Amino acid sequence: MNQPIQEIIGQRFSCRSYLDEPIRETHRQSLKDFLKTQQIGPLRTHARFELVAATQDDRQSLKGLGTYGYIKNPTGFIIGALEQGTKNLEDYGYLFEHAILTATDIGLGTCWLGGTFTKSRFAKKISLRDTETIPAVVATGYIVEKTGRDGQIRKYLSANRRLPKEQLFFVDSFGSPLTTGAAGAYAQPLEMVRWAPSASNKQPWRIVRIGDAWHFYLQRTKGYGKGTLLFSLLRLADLQRVDMGIAMCHFELAARSLRLRGRWIVEAPKLIIPDNTEYTVSWINE
Ligand SMILES: Cc1cc2nc3c(=O)[nH]c(=O)nc-3n(C[C@H](O)[C@H](O)[C@H](O)COP(=O)(O)O)c2cc1C
Repeated sequence: MNQPIQEIIGQRFSCRSYLDEPIRETHRQSLKDFLKTQQIGPLRTHARFELVAATQDDRQSLKGLGTYGYIKNPTGFIIGALEQGTKNLEDYGYLFEHAILTATDIGLGTCWLGGTFTKSRFAKKISLRDTETIPAVVATGYIVEKTGRDGQIRKYLSANRRLPKEQLFFVDSFGSPLTTGAAGAYAQPLEMVRWAPSASNKQPWRIVRIGDAWHFYLQRTKGYGKGTLLFSLLRLADLQRVDMGIAMCHFELAARSLRLRGRWIVEAPKLIIPDNTEYTVSWINE
């Protein structure tokens, strides 16, 4: 990437209106080249990603893709096909978010779409295999600066806001908020997690530091996602697990940019955890 990761994360936002202008060949090629590298997640699931319908010629076919009018003038879509696996949705979030940050660096706007798209049409575009699913797609194109409709959606979602860090990050137990001092060199990777996108801006990530390990937990939003009638009726993916992968991506990229070394393992510590909370993964400092 050309810019420091902290700046790219600061620039990214969910863009819902795009210029009526095809993506330039050089930009398309850089993004496509990057997508080719995103094939296996840190938790070992395979996925593949494709940029579709970004040229003038196939604009027409976009109209049939069905995103229910939330997105104005998308010039292209990135579609991801995900294989099965116990932590596959987390890997999907991780790999896809890395692609989004690359697109942001190139100068493109993006918006994750988890619910508001017609799966069958996207499945056809990527020739989906029997073993694969499409949990979400991403709209992309050049950004139209601040429009009224975008503003309304953002206001509704409080998209410019995040929970205070005391409610997200802890040391040794969920009862004890992590101070900036106790975060040490990791204060910035944590802040980069805070600014991650999440489905409906619910920010379900919680992180507990114990010694050299950072344990990631998913605190499910009540009445949202897995187990709720709406989600099962619409057959939506468990998007809060995708959110966890996005958080992992922000954390790791920021840590690596500061030359903080570590690796991901799945090994839950013995901790008393709050209701609606489940363990996802740990980053072990090396
Ligand atoms: C997994 C996932 C699914 C999302 N699905 C949608 C969607 O279907 N429609 C939409 O307009 N925004 C969607 N979003 C965007 C979020 O609403 C947005 O990330 C959040 O409100 C924070 O705003 P920001 O991305 O501008 O920082 C989704 C985000 C994520 C991470």
